[in-house]
Amino acid sequence: MVTNATIETLLNRRSIRKFKDEAIDADTVATLETVAQRAASSQFLNDWSAIRVSDPAVKAKLAEFGHQPYIATAPLLYVFVIDEHRNARIAESKGIDPAGDDFKLKTSYRFTQAQNDAVLALHAMETAAYSLGLGCVILGSILNDINGLIDLLNLPEYTYPVLGLAIGKPDQEPTLKPRMPRTMQFFENTYPADSENDLSEALPAFDAEVHQYYDLRQADRPVDAFSDQIATVSGQDVSGKTLLDKAAAQGFTLDK
Ligand SMILES: Cc1cc2nc3c(=O)[nH]c(=O)nc-3n(C[C@H](O)[C@H](O)[C@H](O)COP(=O)(O)O)c2cc1C
Repeated sequence: MVTNATIETLLNRRSIRKFKDEAIDADTVATLETVAQRAASSQFLNDWSAIRVSDPAVKAKLAEFGHQPYIATAPLLYVFVIDEHRNARIAESKGIDPAGDDFKLKTSYRFTQAQNDAVLALHAMETAAYSLGLGCVILGSILNDINGLIDLLNLPEYTYPVLGLAIGKPDQEPTLKPRMPRTMQFFENTYPADSENDLSEALPAFDAEVHQYYDLRQADRPVDAFSDQIATVSGQDVSGKTLLDKAAAQGFTLDK
């Protein structure tokens, strides 16, 4: 492989869930936020925002939503949100009624477009943080209570939470979590037929490799083999996490 400092940063990326109790200085915060803004934005809609959570009480509440105490200890903590609220205000200033059918920024295509933009911005921030010697963990767990999160952050109409990002100086050194062989994830031109994509060759070795990895959250035993993890997650009840109803309450029309 070819290498440089950026590649090294990306190849050494692993989630950090224990942070030193040290604040992140203002220049670093400004740098990380400016880098996030530099990410690509589909049709230049700039349809995301991020809430910087500094209030310990709000951090504690996020940790409660996520059932993950380390969220409360993150020196720097963001919640990235889909934001068509700002664009609705701008459109309104141009005579368009966001409540009417002519305002399409609340439809499903725009929702996913904004979600993509938000994730790209978050990832740019994450990479910049690692390049400065900081560590991060992306937080989907705060979405356990979408309604609670929307209330807590006062998220207005046409906004929707995407992910959290906790950032701080690492106070742990987890080993790199294995990834599947590249050939299992990268295909040429078309998706291969199952008959030409024999998982039974590569999967057992990957399963064994994953089963040797220790997650520091449960350091007393190795994690389950990848196949076992997929089987477990495939049966998990996520019926409380439906999107259409909660997005509708925020003004989105995801059936359109
Ligand atoms: C969208 C997304 C949501 C995630 N949510 C959480 C989370 O809520 N809590 C957590 O500890 N890790 C979370 N993670 C981190 C993953 O568990 C982690 O990336 C994965 O296990 C691979 O480990 P690594 O990042 O150390 O390589 C999330 C990652 C992604 C991409």
